[in-house]
Amino acid sequence: MIRPEGPQDAPAIATLITEAFLTAAHADGNEAEIVARLRAEGGLLLSLVSEGPNGIQGHIAASPCSVGGQTGWACIAPLAVDPAQQRSGIGTALIGAALAQLSRLSVGGVVIVGDPVYYGRFGFAADPAIFAPDIPPDYVLTRRCASTAAGALRFHAAFGLD
Ligand SMILES: CC(C)(COP(=O)(O)OP(=O)(O)OC[C@H]1O[C@@H](n2cnc3c(N)ncnc32)[C@H](O)[C@@H]1OP(=O)(O)O)[C@@H](O)C(=O)NCCC(=O)NCCS
Repeated sequence: MIRPEGPQDAPAIATLITEAFLTAAHADGNEAEIVARLRAEGGLLLSLVSEGPNGIQGHIAASPCSVGGQTGWACIAPLAVDPAQQRSGIGTALIGAALAQLSRLSVGGVVIVGDPVYYGRFGFAADPAIFAPDIPPDYVLTRRCASTAAGALRFHAAFGLD
């Protein structure tokens, strides 16, 4: 079952994110902290959990970002699945649910910083017109909706990338 996070879920979400990113190839170790900061600062466009019989198995967050100064875009990050339950479709289901919800919010487009092979299957691709200083261009992936914006990406301050 995929549902929005509730007030009681914050500790379990933090634990899940920390464990998922422990073995991830590209991790800063501050992913749980970013979600806590987004939550505290009203920066969560969505925060969805996948819940199974033994509790929360996966989590996905999205926050506002801008492209070339145009607001109204969303950044999906982080995405985390319990290491013991990876490769069973939970991440795919969470991305599908997040994209459906963001589409209802009429975002200009969606950004993910991540593996082009994994996210390519969801319609994300590197776009030379959209870039983020200090992030390798191959990993800056976008999926446009209505917006034709171009330029530098600006993420929520919770990511500490300014
Ligand atoms: C990335 C992650 C969210 C995927 O979740 P998941 O539930 O395991 O993914 P799914 O089961 O929906 O999809 C599995 C598919 O994705 C591929 N895949 C999974 N993780 C991958 C990764 N890190 N890189 C490339 N491909 C990956 C698998 O090969 C599999 O492909 P297949 O269906 O053709 O066999 C999960 O591995 C995770 O939490 N990783 C640690 C945190 C992380 O890296 N988050 C993403 C940061 S951008």
